Amino acid sequence: MAYRLGPTLLSAADIRARIRELAQAISRDYAGRDLLLLCVLKGAAIFWADLCRALHVPCQSDFVAMESYGDATSPLGKPRFTKASDVSLAGRDVLIVEDIIDTGHTIVRLRGLLQEQGPRSVALCALLDKAERREVRTPIEYCGFVIPNAFVVGYGLDVAQQYRHLPHIATLHPVGSA
Ligand code: IMP
Ligand code: MG
Repeated sequence: MAYRLGPTLLSAADIRARIRELAQAISRDYAGRDLLLLCVLKGAAIFWADLCRALHVPCQSDFVAMESYGDATSPLGKPRFTKASDVSLAGRDVLIVEDIIDTGHTIVRLRGLLQEQGPRSVALCALLDKAERREVRTPIEYCGFVIPNAFVVGYGLDVAQQYRHLPHIATLHPVGSA
């Protein structure tokens, strides 16, 4: 399907300012703790890069990737790691860094998988929350922006691997739609 970029939803300046606020809150809450940022590839990579550089506390980082759900034919029927973390999570204060929470299925599954590894704590920092679309409840301890129910791209988010490089976040419309 062909798409066209819609209007800017969040400018680069909007995102920068909000990340500064999130980083302040995280730095305050994680002072003196054993913070491990767990960036969910690929969509959160740009957010992670800016967020971690705005923190004022020591932290380590690692990366995980989940297969997309919606694979109803899979025997498990649940998202799985396509890349698990390289470091042990046991006893760590894990902060998941995600691009967007939509239905919530991916993050609920990810939290479950991480809990199996015995972390001291697990919390979520998500840049975007499409709250209207939620199907399963999940706390978002650090939320950048609640956005309307529209498909968005840019600042790491893609459609068919495109538009991740945009410095802002824009809506996306199929060509021919209103
Ligand atoms: P959930 O399991 O439905 O919460 O889906 C979360 C994942 O779907 C995100 O990590 C994104 O990879 C993808 N996703 C959901 N909405 C959008 C969007 O508007 N733009 C780009 N990717 C999205
Ligand atoms: Mg994602």
